Amino acid sequence: MMNRIIVALDGMSKEQIFTYLDEIKGEINFVKIGMEAYYKYGRELLIEIKNRYDVSLFLDLKLHDIPNTVKGAIRSLEGLPIEFLTVHLQGGKNMLREAKKQKDISLPRTKLLGVSYLTSLDEQDFLEIWNTEKEDIEDSFIRLFKIAEDCKLEGIVCSAVEATLVKERFNLQVISPGIRLRDDLKANKIGDQRRVLCAKDALSRGCDYLVIGRSLTTKERPYKESLSLLKKEL
Ligand code: C5P
Repeated sequence: MMNRIIVALDGMSKEQIFTYLDEIKGEINFVKIGMEAYYKYGRELLIEIKNRYDVSLFLDLKLHDIPNTVKGAIRSLEGLPIEFLTVHLQGGKNMLREAKKQKDISLPRTKLLGVSYLTSLDEQDFLEIWNTEKEDIEDSFIRLFKIAEDCKLEGIVCSAVEATLVKERFNLQVISPGIRLRDDLKANKIGDQRRVLCAKDALSRGCDYLVIGRSLTTKERPYKESLSLLKKEL
């Protein structure tokens, strides 16, 4: 089960990232670098992590711009040793098709994942941003998943709450953030996330991978303790 866990390395300096990876070595083999670390340290960070730890890498840049710019951004990532890369599905089909085409050229071994709606959005956000009422939210998700499938993306990033919707109708991998250890859920430590589940419930909904950040990287517990709590839950 631990091979389905991706740890999100947010809010850490390069040194902290390496300290963390030294400590969890051999326990988790998939890590996610987001825009925070990538903007600061660039491609060298990814190459260094790969060389030192030989873990799989998820580069979560959530690209969202006009097709030509996204295409150029992906070209700039050429040759990076990454397993997953994210684009926003709301960029539309033209952007997604250009992204996929360029990804196949520049990063042939990487899977392109479409970010649906962020796991931090709640019903009020759906109403304010898209004038979408509660009962229509599910349909909005399904339309985005269909766009991902039409553009031949390999997977979707969505909350585990929507994972069953994807698995029932689409042939897409599901990667879900918004996961908390049970203890953190009980203490309502969900931070800015809204559609949140524990790891076991998320996996039972059909998620292929779970992205877990703060529940595993919090300094409130030793890193190893967070990991063993997770293992006990699974
Ligand atoms: O700390 P936490 O477990 O909430 O971290 C979740 C991670 O997943 C963050 O790195 C965040 O950028 C990412 N993410 C997300 N929601 C999405 C896509 C990615 O929370 N829809």
